[in-house]
Amino acid sequence: MAGPWWRDAVVYQVYPRSFADSDASGEGDLQGIRSRLPYLADLAVDAIWLNPFYTSPLHDSGYDVADYFDVDPRFGTLEDFDALVTDAAALKIRVIIDIVPNHCSSRHPWFQEAIIAGPGSDARERFIFRDSPNNWQSAFGGPAWTRTQDGQWYLHLFDSTQPDFNWRHPDVPAMFERVLRFWLDRGAAAIRIDMANTLFKDPELPDLPEDAPLAPYYDQPELHQLYRSWRKILDSYPAGTFPGPRGAVAEIWFSSPGTVRPYLTKDGLPQTFNFRLTLVPWAAAELRAVIDEACELIKDSGGSMPWVLGNHDITRLVSRLGIDQALIRHPTDALKRGEAQVDVPMGTRRARAAVLLLLALPGTAYLYQGDELGLPEHYAIPASRREDPTFRRTGGAAVGRDGCRVPLPWSGTAPPYGFASRPVRTWLPQPTDWATLTVEAELSDPDSVLNLYRAATHLRREHPALGDGDMTWLESNPDELAFTREPGFGFVANLGDKPIYLPAGSRILLASGPIVNRGVPADTAVWLQH
Ligand code: NOJ
Repeated sequence: MAGPWWRDAVVYQVYPRSFADSDASGEGDLQGIRSRLPYLADLAVDAIWLNPFYTSPLHDSGYDVADYFDVDPRFGTLEDFDALVTDAAALKIRVIIDIVPNHCSSRHPWFQEAIIAGPGSDARERFIFRDSPNNWQSAFGGPAWTRTQDGQWYLHLFDSTQPDFNWRHPDVPAMFERVLRFWLDRGAAAIRIDMANTLFKDPELPDLPEDAPLAPYYDQPELHQLYRSWRKILDSYPAGTFPGPRGAVAEIWFSSPGTVRPYLTKDGLPQTFNFRLTLVPWAAAELRAVIDEACELIKDSGGSMPWVLGNHDITRLVSRLGIDQALIRHPTDALKRGEAQVDVPMGTRRARAAVLLLLALPGTAYLYQGDELGLPEHYAIPASRREDPTFRRTGGAAVGRDGCRVPLPWSGTAPPYGFASRPVRTWLPQPTDWATLTVEAELSDPDSVLNLYRAATHLRREHPALGDGDMTWLESNPDELAFTREPGFGFVANLGDKPIYLPAGSRILLASGPIVNRGVPADTAVWLQH
């Protein structure tokens, strides 16, 4: 494909704290990632996205940044980052970093200065301090305002240790320009932008009416000018040499296509995530609607929308697809608490089919670490070991996201499953029944989820029809998804109960499950050459 690399790429999301632990501290680190690069090269990924590894008290696992220009000692050093970028480049893997511009840590020197400087000071103007709060709620539960000792309140859309910046103070955009250049100069190939649609708040900070469709901190007009200026910075990096022109992908959970459309332009950020596949039930009509919506959104826009099936904020794919799909619409509580019955074999069968869909769709695909092993959500984390601030802020009513962030199992039959080289208490506990889900075990099983992923990513890399481009739906029954991509590629998935039969004259390239006499059973997807 002729477009920029990011429109085509398979990106693997590395959650550094849970990927690989080089110093047996119980937490993963940059050297651990570096040591596992051959695994990622073997998985044929084009890039890795690293969740934040900056200096941080880790109250929100690193999304509370105390120094945007350094690596937290728990994760390593700047030299480790440089070495990781160099080694990854040697394997043709690009490194994408996470930029957290909506808020910092309350340990950031600016916030500490603001607390000391007191009401009316310029230091407080870099944040959102007020004499009285409004009714906004934190995304992690409880009020979005915390009172300081001198009586003023500051805004935090997340934890109280994550004060929101005031993006209308010139120091804030100026600092983030430096942050961008700092990491792009060090070889970051792209940035993922955390909460890209909330940086500016309505200056009046109005109370949120109960029935408001959108809070007044979403999608403020100034964002577009800011992102045009970031695009200029990204485009100022030279094409022609690896990693080439620099990309950016915005984290935007959009409620309707109209709210995301303004971000999809030729001169704004090149990409915004499309999370829709994670929000709809496993049903042909709903998946098709989401795919059509995306094709319509990006058509002629200049932007593109990477597909996602999982990430560090979402219940694991296998568990999401293994429950009664009516619950997907109200996913959090019953599901996150483990109260919904999860049929793991069914979830795994569907997750296998889902990844063949993901990798066959036009555009970029993001894979979340551990999904390639078919890991289910870990529900049985004791309250005393829970880390997600959501758990604490809701008094345990919402369990939070720890269950999808558990350290990866690499080898062996008991925790820490090769995550660290010697027995260690991992920062989140691993289940004791993951022996068959380790990388080592799955590599030696031809039918494993990992070997399906490997086959699919390698085929995608070689097949001229896959990656960026167009697709054409085929006439099919209501429980089927069937489309072609040229030249010569066909996709069929059966989301119903009765087998469907493959078209004559097509050859099977890859199937997510057994195919008997050209019959595709329930919850199975097939890649075809026609
Ligand atoms: C979105 C991130 O993905 C999530 O993990 C984090 O808690 C919030 N933004 C706040 O930074």
